[in-house]
Amino acid sequence: MKISVIGAGYVGLVTGGCLAEIGHQVVCTDSDIVKIRTLESGSLPIYEPGLDAVIAKARRDGHLSFHENLADAVDFGEVIFICVGTPPLPNGDADLSAIDNVARLVATSARGPKLVIEKSTVPAQTGQELKRALSVYGRKSGITFLVASNPEFLREGTAVADFLHPDRIVVGVEDEIAERQLKEIYGPVLEGKFNCPIHAPACPAGPPPAWLVTTINSAELIKHASNSFLALKISYTNMVADLAERLGADIGEVTRAMGMDPRIGPSFLNAGLGFGGFCLPKDLQAFVHLAERSGVDFSLLKEAEKINRRRMDHFVEKIRRALWVIRGKKIGVLGLAFKPNTDDIRFAPAIDLIQLLVADGACVRAYDPEAMEKARTVLPKVEFAPSAYDAAQGAEALLIATEWEQFRRLDWERIRESMARPLVLDGRNMLSPLEMKTRGFEYFSIGRPD
Ligand SMILES: NC(=O)c1ccc[n+]([C@@H]2O[C@H](COP(=O)([O-])OP(=O)(O)OC[C@H]3O[C@@H](n4cnc5c(N)ncnc54)[C@H](O)[C@@H]3O)[C@@H](O)[C@H]2O)c1
Repeated sequence: MKISVIGAGYVGLVTGGCLAEIGHQVVCTDSDIVKIRTLESGSLPIYEPGLDAVIAKARRDGHLSFHENLADAVDFGEVIFICVGTPPLPNGDADLSAIDNVARLVATSARGPKLVIEKSTVPAQTGQELKRALSVYGRKSGITFLVASNPEFLREGTAVADFLHPDRIVVGVEDEIAERQLKEIYGPVLEGKFNCPIHAPACPAGPPPAWLVTTINSAELIKHASNSFLALKISYTNMVADLAERLGADIGEVTRAMGMDPRIGPSFLNAGLGFGGFCLPKDLQAFVHLAERSGVDFSLLKEAEKINRRRMDHFVEKIRRALWVIRGKKIGVLGLAFKPNTDDIRFAPAIDLIQLLVADGACVRAYDPEAMEKARTVLPKVEFAPSAYDAAQGAEALLIATEWEQFRRLDWERIRESMARPLVLDGRNMLSPLEMKTRGFEYFSIGRPD
């Protein structure tokens, strides 16, 4: 099928790359010309494991191309995936201006009927507005536009595998034609009929993805409700961690047992610095606003947000207790990205943490395997180290802010020897308190006995 993807960010590139990988003809465009030129030159503007190979192969096979001309790109596909950003407005509501711009673009550039699919995360009822905008802006053309919602559940860091092996594909549609087209698009994924670029020689056995057909409103609500629930789970865990800390219990032992209950499940039960990234914080806020606008008091979600904001104060307080005075101290920080295996620093807890420490007068030297280039622009007063060892060198405290797997395997004896004071504050509970004590560190983590 011929498909246009609008928005060449994380979701647009994974969507475009993977749809091309499973056999479709894809043209991807973006309003950011620099981004499109970077992509045309063969580089990727983001780090996402496996995505570079998928995109390179799709381009080589002639299945994927990037176009600067938005109107031409839009007209290419019989189906259009909208993957533009929906960032938070200052009041927390979702900024839908990019969706509105795309509606105008599609309505005025299309020369034939299109199925327009929202893949961006949007508040419920956006599909209705999109339909209206398409018919208003396109009233002179007489072209028919169908609208569908197809929320994306991929996780940065494992996005390609998540797209190709989803547990469910949700399609919000209003008519059979849209449903049929979406089923055709996802046919190879549903039937497992594609050469998987991630798993060689064979994909792990598992049930096929569930195919869920809903209304457009429900599909939109599913995405916001899912992300808000995950945020709730993290904030709940963090509160239990605070309690464990006071009572001398170990949050790791508590959540391990909790997660064995299939009604609860083990994911998103990690205590630490809280959630960040481009999805959970903004989707939670947008969901709260949607509820308010709809006359529903969803204060439960406001509390989850408040708890998340307090995580940073809680951790900085721990640092202050350990260091006594922060001003003038050399502090090493491991991790900048909002989670491991990505270079995405949007709403990353590590960035907030460093900004607080710098404001308190600390001299911060940070290291991240992938996110330093992006962090440089937002952390002008921070020194960036070429390795984790350099970040620790001479430091009076070393903080773990992102749980990159490689930090677990560092030569911790070497780090202890190089530090001015062997003090580690682990904001992600990556390391074992007992092992760290045995190695001669003062070690503090979250919700575990010091
Ligand atoms: N990043 C994730 O893990 C993830 C997962 C699921 C859903 N989502 C949702 O998908 C959407 C996109 O997220 P992202 O992380 O890919 O964002 P992103 O910022 O990486 O990409 C968005 C892209 O849209 C482009 N854009 C903005 N306005 C445009 C316009 N009018 N025309 C063409 N291009 C335009 C931007 O230049 C940018 O490249 C958001 O709604 C997000 O909530 C993100």
